[in-house]
Amino acid sequence: STLGASAAEQGGRYFGTAVAASRLNDSTYTTILNREFNQVTAENEMKIDALQPQQGQFSYGNADRIVQHARSRGMQVRGHTLAWHSQQPGWMQNMSGSTLRNAMLNHVTTVATRFRGQIAWWDVVNEAFADGGSGARRDSNLQRTGNDWIEAAFRAARQADPNASLCYNDYNIDNWNDAKTQAVYRMVQDFKSRGVPIDCVGLQSHFTGGSNYPSNYRTTLSSFAALGVDVHITELDIRNAPSEAYRNVVNDCLAVARCKGITVWGIRDSDSWRSNESPLLFDGSGNKKAAYNAVLTALNSG
Ligand code: G3I
Repeated sequence: STLGASAAEQGGRYFGTAVAASRLNDSTYTTILNREFNQVTAENEMKIDALQPQQGQFSYGNADRIVQHARSRGMQVRGHTLAWHSQQPGWMQNMSGSTLRNAMLNHVTTVATRFRGQIAWWDVVNEAFADGGSGARRDSNLQRTGNDWIEAAFRAARQADPNASLCYNDYNIDNWNDAKTQAVYRMVQDFKSRGVPIDCVGLQSHFTGGSNYPSNYRTTLSSFAALGVDVHITELDIRNAPSEAYRNVVNDCLAVARCKGITVWGIRDSDSWRSNESPLLFDGSGNKKAAYNAVLTALNSG
């Protein structure tokens, strides 16, 4: 009858959404949120610039509002994100070398400790690989602190919150044949072989529709899962919200036992970061779109 309830019946999966703290006063928004979803991700409020705007001064107000709204209603929370090249506060953007490495690790430790027991999954590291055919790491101030910055972040997160599942999250890792997908796969394989603590991979899945939904998406999900990690569809949205593509994504997740759930990146089209593409399941007035019905039907028939 709802996205969350139907997903829960599929092996305890979740169906979630990104949430903006500024919209928690909008009753149309919260009515849909509370009715349909059993998982939330803060869209911006748990990013580095939001949580540590000045070095050493942490600001948890908006993050706490979202976490408390969710947890008081039995929704699980995904923490997004501890280490990322983007949305760094100004003081961090200007850092480099061991000073930056230590500041990053301090952020990971402080934030993961602060939310210990409240976060089911952390996106420990976000978007660390380059687009295109190189399969290389993305250049960034964090990458320039040394190639081991990712595993250092995962080790710090594990130590701070041993019960949270620790994920690597990225976009354009949906097509199994892409160099970026293969590069992330090799990193996870390497981490598992060396005992670096990683539990899951998040595929953001910002699709532009048509051929951008890769027919081998299910192969990608099952290949990561075969490495011994869970997989999550973490930021799903699809240009013009074609029912067929949404249905395929749900069916692919349900076909892979370790695909634990799906998060859409916003509730109404008007809430979306790409609102001009109408990529979500509810229209600007909060009405269910055709894609909503396709998703619910797929969840109920899987
Ligand atoms: O809150 C300020 C506001 O005070 C200011 O007046 C206004 C002027 O620009 O900016 C507001 O902040 C904006 C924020 O969203 C909240 O609306 C930022 O400029 C804007 O950059 C920010 O965009 C977010 C984007 O991440 C930033 O990288 C989007 O909302 C958010 O949906 C998007 O989410 C990312 C994921 O974290 C990672 N994967 C890709 C995804 C889409 O880009």
